[in-house]
Amino acid sequence: MTTSQQRIRPRRLRQSPGMRRLVAETRLNAADLVQPLFVSESLSSPRAVPSMPGVLQHSLESLPAAARKARDAGVGAVMLFGIPAVKDAAGAGATDPDGILTRGVRGLAAAVPDMPIIADLCLDEFTDHGHCGVLAADGTVDNEATLQRYRQMATLLGEAGATLLGTSGMMDGQVGAVRDALDGAGLHTTGILAYAAKYASAFYRPFRDAVESSLVGDRRSYQQDPANAIEALREVRLDLAEGADIVMVKPALGYLDIVAAAAAEADVPVAAYVVSGESAMVEAAAAAGWLDRRAAIMEALTCVRRAGAGIVCTYWATEVAQWLARGDD
Ligand code: PBG
Repeated sequence: MTTSQQRIRPRRLRQSPGMRRLVAETRLNAADLVQPLFVSESLSSPRAVPSMPGVLQHSLESLPAAARKARDAGVGAVMLFGIPAVKDAAGAGATDPDGILTRGVRGLAAAVPDMPIIADLCLDEFTDHGHCGVLAADGTVDNEATLQRYRQMATLLGEAGATLLGTSGMMDGQVGAVRDALDGAGLHTTGILAYAAKYASAFYRPFRDAVESSLVGDRRSYQQDPANAIEALREVRLDLAEGADIVMVKPALGYLDIVAAAAAEADVPVAAYVVSGESAMVEAAAAAGWLDRRAAIMEALTCVRRAGAGIVCTYWATEVAQWLARGDD
């Protein structure tokens, strides 16, 4: 059969923007995007994070406007990370009722009461050693002692008005401990967004600038090995059994196989987090003129959705939502 005699022509469905739009299997919606935000106790006005172009450390004063901007663009939720003025071994700032994260959550709950507010539930921003938990005498991260700290954080952040708690510390049993603490405090409607499969990734580096992390070493004794997929499913199943409301895979772009596997496994919504270093690669290449920034962002986020994530955390959330609202993508 010569080319002109072909009856089956896949290109028919690609011939025009309208036809491509009709048959698109995956669409980005602003409602599916989560905007991470940073609030710093030390600032009185916003400050740029050089390794995260476009991302700001907010002050308590500037934070509400950033959340309102995300809401007005149609973004689905905001996720808050706090940067305390003082860090110590136990991460005391994390459980201070007047600590930066608690105050930030209260500010968001007042500013965007109709929007889900995800509070990061981890100690790494608050500890002087930079680990996600407290340390035992031998210097290892003490799982059980850390769970006690997470339980305290859970009730505090739930009472402050967080809709969902983002358990990002990768301690064993953290979802169960947080669920138990919330229920014990009568916070039955506060949900858990479980960082179920969180890998020990080199692509978190710019984030550590954003939270002024003092980590020396790495997190490989609690975050997952990038070489492994099977244990990701084990983590997902455990978090579901412990009561996770949403499970997340992180990072996203290099881990789309894990996103797809988690989506096949889970009977709750699956989220994926396009992390700081993944964004930085696109930003740096675009700044050099090597990539079309907007096309690369839209493609990257569409691919994460196509792999099976219903929810995508991305530093580009508000900007992409504004593009989508204008209807030009
Ligand atoms: C830990 C946390 C990290 C990120 C989100 N939560 C850093 C880490 O685990 O080292 C990274 C996010 C990003 O890189 O965008 N609370």
